[in-house]
Amino acid sequence: MTYLETTAEFYSEVAQTPQVGLCCVQSSPLQLPGLKIPPMMADMNYGCGTTVHPTELSNQPTVLYVGVGGGLEALQFAYFSQRPGGVIAVEPVQAMREAATRNLKIAAQDNSWFDQSFVEIREGDAFALPMPDDSVDVVAQNCLFNIFEPADLMKALKEAYRVLKPGGRLLMSDPIATRPIPPHLQEDERLRAMCLSGALTYQSYVQHLVRSGFGQVEIRAKRPYRLLDCQNYNLEEPLLLESLDSVSFKVVIPEDGPCIFTGKTAIYMGAEEFFDDNAGHILSRGVPAAVCDKTAAKLGKVNPEEILITDSTWHYIGGGCC
Ligand SMILES: C[S@@+](CC[C@H](N)C(=O)[O-])C[C@H]1O[C@@H](n2cnc3c(N)ncnc32)[C@H](O)[C@@H]1O
Repeated sequence: MTYLETTAEFYSEVAQTPQVGLCCVQSSPLQLPGLKIPPMMADMNYGCGTTVHPTELSNQPTVLYVGVGGGLEALQFAYFSQRPGGVIAVEPVQAMREAATRNLKIAAQDNSWFDQSFVEIREGDAFALPMPDDSVDVVAQNCLFNIFEPADLMKALKEAYRVLKPGGRLLMSDPIATRPIPPHLQEDERLRAMCLSGALTYQSYVQHLVRSGFGQVEIRAKRPYRLLDCQNYNLEEPLLLESLDSVSFKVVIPEDGPCIFTGKTAIYMGAEEFFDDNAGHILSRGVPAAVCDKTAAKLGKVNPEEILITDSTWHYIGGGCC
């Protein structure tokens, strides 16, 4: 059996016998006015963060959701698109497609704004998305891509890039590892399927996004997810996993490198009213300006006495340079 078959078998099991807290989310599902989440759907929340960012979802976007699980986030996205076929959910595991269909049927009874036609569930997988090039506004996946080995992750990211319209967004939530996960855990297919041993480090995760063509990446949240302890995971030191929520844009990678926003700001503290780096960044004295990590590094070097660079907050939601 390949690790992808082990994964499919595992999710077939947890579609039929839900495991509450399988992915150990640190927050309750996003609540929205007028949205009622069926209890069974909430029990099948197998995500590790959220991919539903209301600021990205204006103008009734077409959303392609990869790995539907119990349908929770598909329902939340449908809240924003509110039209037939507005959300297309791709899922290779039959039992999971059936569970999501059942849960969405209950959601349609409980939510007057929701019709089941708003979410179309299709058989398919992350490596061959059943959509034409440049056709969707948003691709989303929660706690799936971390399961993939690096070469498969590249395939999945390139597929997401292919189907996105220019300027479209890839919304993701995945565990990342605070140091490389040792091979004996990476090779454990069941742990990998449970989102516990496939995670990449932050640097490697972002590198994969950029190598797939995404020119801008914004980090929306980074928080503790799970601890792999020494006894149960045969480790010399405990290993902390974090969950990372991100939004990546299908825009051209600038010549001087991608724009990665992690919540840094630049603050001018010199004698003038403002500082202009003649590269598109004007800093008013004393006022923090959101900057990407590339610009933060440049400004910090150009004028360290007069420009203060604040640390990454790991929470960025727009505005600023680039
Ligand atoms: C960890 S669960 C996450 C489910 C959902 N995103 C959530 O947040 O609750 C991973 C989901 O991806 C599906 N899956 C597994 N392999 C897949 C693949 N190759 N392509 C697309 N989906 C896959 C699983 O069946 C399962 O529904």
